[in-house]
Amino acid sequence: MLSRNKPYFDIRDLAAALSFFTGSAKHYERLFAKAFGYTYALHFPYGRDVLYALLKALPSKKKEVVMPDYTCMVMPNAAIKANHTLKVVDVSLEDYNAHWEHFKKAITKNTKVIVPTHLFGFTVDVKKIKRNMAKDIIILEDVALALDPKIGHDGDAALFSTGFNKHITTLQGGILATDDKNIYEKVLAYRNKAYRKPSCVTTIRRFITFFAYYFVFNRIIYGLLDYANARFGLLKRIKRHNYSKIMLPKDHFELFSKFQTRVGVAQLKKYKEINKKRMRYARRYHALLEKDKRCGKSFFLVPFDKHSTYSHFPIRVKNRDIVRERMKAKGIEAGTTLDYHTSGLPAYKKLKKCPHSAKIASEIINLPNYPSLKMKDIDRIAKVFLDAI
Ligand SMILES: Cc1ncc(COP(=O)(O)O)c(C=O)c1O
Repeated sequence: MLSRNKPYFDIRDLAAALSFFTGSAKHYERLFAKAFGYTYALHFPYGRDVLYALLKALPSKKKEVVMPDYTCMVMPNAAIKANHTLKVVDVSLEDYNAHWEHFKKAITKNTKVIVPTHLFGFTVDVKKIKRNMAKDIIILEDVALALDPKIGHDGDAALFSTGFNKHITTLQGGILATDDKNIYEKVLAYRNKAYRKPSCVTTIRRFITFFAYYFVFNRIIYGLLDYANARFGLLKRIKRHNYSKIMLPKDHFELFSKFQTRVGVAQLKKYKEINKKRMRYARRYHALLEKDKRCGKSFFLVPFDKHSTYSHFPIRVKNRDIVRERMKAKGIEAGTTLDYHTSGLPAYKKLKKCPHSAKIASEIINLPNYPSLKMKDIDRIAKVFLDAI
């Protein structure tokens, strides 16, 4: 079975994880800042903690956070848990992102932070947002799915995620990157006060999880697990997200375990190769699918964006479940990131309705485009997708 996503691990990551007693978070932060062109970088247990800590660290009478309705639900959760109020804006059906024309209606004198999100790597014109907005509103660019030195420099700070299904991974993790000394110093002071070193139990749990991820995505093992899951409900108890509760993970105040900093350094060395491959595969998918006469009728592509990092290759289809079933029967798992939108979640039902976000969430599928695939896999996946439509 070809999995929907797969971390780009190899023997270098394994060796890094096993190089006990070495590794330093400061070293990882320095390398991260240098690789992506920032003056400062601060690591956090999760990407969502970057927003959480920023909101907590910068006191203000203004308490409103504005973000796209169509984003990872952990972002609204972080804003609420930081005791702020949330406003969501709808997104474009074209590239699934919120742009200035979406944000401008939502900004008020109470807006403290806005979060332009480069979803699936598709770029948002943050310069335009900045030009048009009051100067005292903080722009936190969400580049969790857009790891690239050219993206994320137009706001006041950027939020990176190195969760296990991101471009590069430290199993779980986030980085706040900025050139703004004031933001850096305030968030650092807050991090020193509120966050702590991980407990031994947390480190052991993370270490075991790293090893599980290292091996589980092997095509044969993944296929066997998928079979066992279908037959015996193996993964029933493991929930990706709890959709009905506003929560943060139990270990969200526990900073990196040392092995994560070592894996992070090993992964950083590979990010250019990862981006290049994702980009090549996206270009190929686009070329193969665009010429099918059902494109624009039975399925919809985002116009090719040569600046996108293509964290995913998203397609909207009307008959998503059937397409996924048919693809699965041919040994290919199509993902459904993100098959929800914030204002459609039970915990957020009072928020303003966003019809584009709802539509995208109900139609999205993502074709596998991770770097360990080969071009012949891409050709086969595209064919299987077109046969399944
Ligand atoms: C667009 C986006 N922003 C932020 C995050 C938060 O990242 P993390 O899971 O590291 O908290 C995610 C996670 O998937 C995401 O997709």
